[in-house]
Amino acid sequence: MSSSSTNKKLLNWVDDMTALCQPDNVVWCDGSDAEWQAMWELMLDSGTAIKLNEDKRPNSYLVRSDPADVARVEERTFICSEKEQDAGPTNNWANPVEMQHTLKGLFSGCMKGRTLYVIPFSMGPIGSDIAQIGVELTDSPYVVTNMHIMARVGQAVLDALGDDGDFVPCLHSVGLPLEQGQHDAAWPCNPDNRYIVHYPESREIWSFGSGYGGNALLGKKCFALRIASSMARDEGWLAEHMLILKLTNPEGDVKYIAGAFPSACGKTNLAMLKPTILGWKVETIGDDICWMKFGEDGQLYAINPEAGFFGVAPGTSMGSNANAMLTMKENSIFTNVALTDDGDVWWEGMTDEAPANLTDWKGNAWTPESEHSAAHGNARFTTHAAQCPVIADEWNDPKGVPISAILMGGRRASVIPLVTEATDWNHGTFFGTFVASEMTAAAAGKIGQLRRDPMAMLPFCGYNMADYWGHWLQMAEKENAKMPNIYYVNWFRKNEAGKFMWPGFGENSRVLKWIFERCSGTADAVETAIGNMPTLDDIGFSEMGLAEDDIANLMHVDVDGWLSELDGIEAYYATFGEHLPVKLTEQVNQLREKLQGSKQNVA
Ligand code: GTP
Ligand code: SPV
Ligand code: MN
Repeated sequence: MSSSSTNKKLLNWVDDMTALCQPDNVVWCDGSDAEWQAMWELMLDSGTAIKLNEDKRPNSYLVRSDPADVARVEERTFICSEKEQDAGPTNNWANPVEMQHTLKGLFSGCMKGRTLYVIPFSMGPIGSDIAQIGVELTDSPYVVTNMHIMARVGQAVLDALGDDGDFVPCLHSVGLPLEQGQHDAAWPCNPDNRYIVHYPESREIWSFGSGYGGNALLGKKCFALRIASSMARDEGWLAEHMLILKLTNPEGDVKYIAGAFPSACGKTNLAMLKPTILGWKVETIGDDICWMKFGEDGQLYAINPEAGFFGVAPGTSMGSNANAMLTMKENSIFTNVALTDDGDVWWEGMTDEAPANLTDWKGNAWTPESEHSAAHGNARFTTHAAQCPVIADEWNDPKGVPISAILMGGRRASVIPLVTEATDWNHGTFFGTFVASEMTAAAAGKIGQLRRDPMAMLPFCGYNMADYWGHWLQMAEKENAKMPNIYYVNWFRKNEAGKFMWPGFGENSRVLKWIFERCSGTADAVETAIGNMPTLDDIGFSEMGLAEDDIANLMHVDVDGWLSELDGIEAYYATFGEHLPVKLTEQVNQLREKLQGSKQNVA
């Protein structure tokens, strides 16, 4: 299809990139069902995809990636700001001029033998003040189908863009040109030459060599977090790695809560949770990304810029997350999961017992006796937000929803209690800066290793992390700002036997209830050195049948543990040099004083 855009910047850019990449064809995507079907025809023919059993999983497909291309690659992700210090010590910086030279070389002729797809997309409801437009150029039909689900794609976006509207250019190639007659790989990629590159000043993305997830669906982490975080700093808003949920109490009062947890640490699960406490209701607004802008009333209004969920499959079951299971019952894409004998999908944790025979994520026969898992640890489903049985009516509202509370948390086996409330925004920002988590399969790296992941943004902040903290602190200084309460939560505390102390999932509603009631001023709190905490009754521990020791630990302020945590925080802060906001040093000093004070009280 030819273009129906009259936008000069867009037309010129598509021409330039076509000349550079030299595809055989250029196709403008319209996001239609016919286009979805056409892409799958191509992928069935090329061996990229398998159609799932139409009776079991209508209009759904299984795709197996190259085993070398299964997750985000952080060490191949670059922030090419003009100055190195603007990328900061937590990002890979590369000189933008040199990088442009390298990329021009790699992209030159890289789409030979392939089609270049032009995907106009909106992150957020089209026309919302908080939404943004991007255009992805890609040579991957798999990316086209995923973008259909994850973003709003098609003519309406071009209409909104108009003649002179601006957009973020997102160029993507799997990096494997085809010679005439050359047989294509089932999952084309170029794992030895991966570059996920961001230019925050010119707001451009160039991604080469990977076809997977956040490396390739450029609206997601590249645009909606790395580029958007840098736009947000310039323009006074927030682009965050957060779920957004709507919580309704038995009286019908509503609050909206956002939560920043690192990758594979429970955002999708919390966003769709089924409360175990009577009369409370959770509905979903978003499961991964949250853009927030001040409304005229001084509150932060949030939208979910995405239109679908790209969720972690392993561990998802009717028991742990029934709403996710129901969302993906049709019109969905499954990547790197196992295939059942009757043409459906399976992954570890979906059922208590594994099927007797499966085809694993690499396409090999698998039985429960096999030594490796049937699905990859970062296997994912791509599915429409609108299909979620508990999607909130206002998930599509262009004005967004007012946020009352922000949760921060990660996987911490020790020290961090179940829930702690910050005493004010600065204290809460301090909480966010020292979030640390055990690494998961969502990124290539050392699984289980503890690392700092401030505000769950370590891999996603598009500029200097300490400047980002400064931006958070500054947000509260806006006239009439009514900032949300901030809470540090930890569902992942473990006891000496290595078991989770807290049952998590639906039981997390007990913590949400306390937070809701704190925001409406009806719940009490115990003041401690580290912040405000609920009482045992507030959480309803007595009904839960947990071990006494576990309860005590979940709610304990481990003074020595916190003092050594503080040493770690200070060492971490030191890596940011002059960029570290003074207000955070003050927070460290205050916490140390309080901890030492409480130690003396005990002694
Ligand atoms: P990304 O999409 O990578 O950003 O991940 P996410 O933060 O949305 O994580 P998700 O909700 O997909 O959960 C990841 C893993 O954590 C899954 O295997 C879940 O089963 C598990 N999980 C989620 N919530 C809980 C919880 O409350 N307790 C425990 N123990 N595990 C949980
Ligand atoms: C994450 O890693 O936080 C994800 C998956 O949500 S990806 O889109 O691959 O970044
Ligand atoms: Mn994520």
